[in-house]
Amino acid sequence: MQRPDWAPETIDVERPSVARMYDYYLGGSHNFAVDRAAARAMVAAVPQAPLMAQANRAFLRRAVQFLTDAGIRQFLDIGSGIPTVGNVHEIAQRHAPDSRVVYVDVDPVAVAHSREILAGNDHTAVVQEDLRRPDRILTHPDVRAMLDFSQPTAVLVVAVLHFVSDDDRPTEVLRTLRAALTPGSYLVLSQASDDGRDEAERTEAEEVYRRTDSPLWIRSRAELTGFFDGFELVEPGVVWVPQWRPETPESAEDAERAVFLGGVGRLGG
Ligand SMILES: C[S@@+](CC[C@H](N)C(=O)[O-])C[C@H]1O[C@@H](n2cnc3c(N)ncnc32)[C@H](O)[C@@H]1O
Repeated sequence: MQRPDWAPETIDVERPSVARMYDYYLGGSHNFAVDRAAARAMVAAVPQAPLMAQANRAFLRRAVQFLTDAGIRQFLDIGSGIPTVGNVHEIAQRHAPDSRVVYVDVDPVAVAHSREILAGNDHTAVVQEDLRRPDRILTHPDVRAMLDFSQPTAVLVVAVLHFVSDDDRPTEVLRTLRAALTPGSYLVLSQASDDGRDEAERTEAEEVYRRTDSPLWIRSRAELTGFFDGFELVEPGVVWVPQWRPETPESAEDAERAVFLGGVGRLGG
């Protein structure tokens, strides 16, 4: 297939990318035929896949608003994705223009688009790195130039942990990130979960994602809660994402259909 002008030359346009599939669920235009085919296979298996992406994105926005209200002015968004409306810097800087945001993603398309959108915004940076190598993120010169870890910082790992296998030791990854943070910092997590869900749906979803650059690791509520080790969970704890501080009671109805569990933890001390 032909590579469009906006696509970096290094990318594999024949293999579905989870970043571009997510962009497709959200109605974006930075995806290829191969991504759309995989995303449609996912929708055939799990019809609410686009709703899941929207519910997760809405959770991210509410969490950033909460953090901004709590006085956080520094954000490290890992697995940030292809920028869509309502990005972290838009929400944070609307409320507090001095907020600084670093976006980190492993996907070259996500990184290229983030750079394009953020050109001229000198309170943001974009870094191509891998969550599984947290030391490289924490010591990256662009991260260090933008964020002062002696000040409270929010680390966002939203809808990305399910692409980190148990072999890649997510608990250790999160421990390394936590060790860099000062008390009063926050961790925001969400991840696909199978808590009380249809086994067949799970198997089919895993099958679709096996064809992509990042297979799925669906986890239980207890596992996601365990990832907050060392943090105090903010109310209402780990819940289906529409149930996390919903704007209206109706928006939290049928919350388990969102498939993502999420929560926010605060580093005490
Ligand atoms: C489902 S999107 C989530 C985007 C955004 N965080 C959100 O919640 O709207 C997952 C993103 O994580 C990225 N990703 C997957 N594995 C990663 C890894 N090991 N390190 C960094 N980013 C990763 C993908 O490229 C993709 O952009």
